[in-house]
Amino acid sequence: MFRIQVGKKQKQDMTLRSVLLVGGTGFIGSSVAQRLSALGLHVIVPTRRLTKGDALRMLPTIDLVEADIYDTCALCGLMNEVDAVVNLVGVLHSESDAPYGPEFARAHVELPRTLVAAARLSEVPRIVHVSALGADIHGPSEYLRSKADGEAVIRATGPEIAWSIFRPAVVFGPHDKFLNLFATLTAHLPVLPLGGAHTRFQPVFVEDVAAAIVHAVLHRAGLGETIELAGPRIYTLAELVSYVAQLQDHHCMILPLSEKLALLQAAIMECLPGPLMSRDNVRSMRRDCVASTSVAGTTASMPFGIHATALETVAPQWLCDDGDWRGMFNGFRQRAHRRNL
Ligand SMILES: NC(=O)c1ccc[n+]([C@@H]2O[C@H](COP(=O)([O-])OP(=O)(O)OC[C@H]3O[C@@H](n4cnc5c(N)ncnc54)[C@H](OP(=O)(O)O)[C@@H]3O)[C@@H](O)[C@H]2O)c1
Repeated sequence: MFRIQVGKKQKQDMTLRSVLLVGGTGFIGSSVAQRLSALGLHVIVPTRRLTKGDALRMLPTIDLVEADIYDTCALCGLMNEVDAVVNLVGVLHSESDAPYGPEFARAHVELPRTLVAAARLSEVPRIVHVSALGADIHGPSEYLRSKADGEAVIRATGPEIAWSIFRPAVVFGPHDKFLNLFATLTAHLPVLPLGGAHTRFQPVFVEDVAAAIVHAVLHRAGLGETIELAGPRIYTLAELVSYVAQLQDHHCMILPLSEKLALLQAAIMECLPGPLMSRDNVRSMRRDCVASTSVAGTTASMPFGIHATALETVAPQWLCDDGDWRGMFNGFRQRAHRRNL
């Protein structure tokens, strides 16, 4: 249990007991849930399907509940007695429209609006909202434009709710859908046609993102701020994919695609169930996905004194073919013309 300060007006300590973690069954949400639970906090995790949160159910202070989070009344029921709300809901694909399609509108804009309305009605004093690096109403993709409008909803919150917005770069971790996807593709394809091959990314470790979110909730840090979360190094997408293939000792040739061909490839993928890539994802890669503070490729961007974890120090633990952590040295070994471990 933690003593925190609430609202300038109240000027009294409040005990943080309970957090509503929306999107808590997801990749980042699971790490946040585990950290909050380890601190002894009561965590309510709404989900569309209870089976989705099987891993969380085992944790002692977590209440997994099936709920419609787009329903204000249902949310108010969940927010009863809650001291803070964290929103981690996000989608990568939507039907297309201008300025963005309906699924993006619902998950990225309508949901924050409903959360704010319910938080006001339930007198919840704190919202931590997770957006994305590069969110911009004039951004090149529907994803980035809808994320920007979601942020605007949070910023328009009245003074009674203290808000913070996080903008993570692409996030890596044992259960990510980024490096793991490329690991699968490079394992099975001798040649990988790659859109956005030259786009630069600054991947951030899932545990660092979770640490920042939990710190903001516990210590009411970053109030009224929009905070970027990015790792210590910048890579092109082609570099990241090569690194993953190299860790697994797979020989896969990367074939950079022009945007026209990448859009064609994505249009074909969109016809498959659970598409790996959409044309909107390709358009997102028109811009580098790096922190605004980063220069010359080596600036970590983490708040609250959190040390950004380097990809090379952890990714071999789950990406090396045989789980042999010594694979983290394969890059050095190859440069020295020695065989991989
Ligand atoms: N992962 C990254 O690399 C990355 C990078 C930048 C920003 N972000 C942002 O960080 C947040 C969390 O990302 P994540 O990777 O952890 O996402 P995730 O694994 O896809 O999880 C998102 C959660 O939101 C819920 N959800 C998804 N679609 C929904 C919908 N249409 N309606 C209601 N609930 C829905 C799901 O919960 P249920 O299925 O249990 O209902 C899911 O567990 C998102 O806002 C994302 O945009 C992620």
